[in-house]
Amino acid sequence: MVIAIDGPSGSGKTSTAKLLAKKLCYYYCDSGSLYRAVTYFLLAKDVDLKKSIDINSALKDLKINYDVKKNLITLNDINVTQYLREDSITNNVSRVSSVSSVRNFLISIQRDLADYQNIIVDGRDIGTTVFPNADFKFFIDAEVEVRARRRFNEFLECNIKKDYKEVLEMIKNRDSYDENRKNSPLRRAQDAIYIDNSDMGLEEQVLKIINYIK
Ligand code: DC
Repeated sequence: MVIAIDGPSGSGKTSTAKLLAKKLCYYYCDSGSLYRAVTYFLLAKDVDLKKSIDINSALKDLKINYDVKKNLITLNDINVTQYLREDSITNNVSRVSSVSSVRNFLISIQRDLADYQNIIVDGRDIGTTVFPNADFKFFIDAEVEVRARRRFNEFLECNIKKDYKEVLEMIKNRDSYDENRKNSPLRRAQDAIYIDNSDMGLEEQVLKIINYIK
């Protein structure tokens, strides 16, 4: 069984997917982490991210493993999970995720994860491209100002001082990049259930999803 959850940055889809996985006893795959892991790898190898051809050849040396039981990502057997939220990665991941060889590489990894277990996968193209036949599809959204405020608060919780306007701008830029790229842009699948959680708490939202599934 596959449950696909898509939505823009800061929509809360990751918290939603995690809590849903816990309540349903499913595994959880954060597909954004895979794109972040590839970005980490390319930056560490000093690959020019503007050259798709260089990215394609670097991918040949990459073995990536996502252990959904332990929630760990390894690159060539080295655990990189703790580095994936660093600014250098966040600032470059949109560019890397628009490269088709990267997407094809990661799509097959995501599909393999669903071969032998019940899984919830969140991302941008899960219901449209990775699992067009998912058993359930949800598209989680919220107003851009609400999403920026959430990100701003997450930074505060980690003692990182950012300007709210800067965070808002960053979210708008990522939305625009994710929605307008040629390969698998962020889009709501026609058969996805749309949830706007601008005025909704996490528990309420997860309950709503469980009710749909039931
Ligand atoms: O959800 P996130 O912020 O960790 O995602 C990081 C980036 O990866 C984001 O810019 C969009 C991209 N991404 C994607 O293109 N497709 C996915 N299925 C998941 C993430």
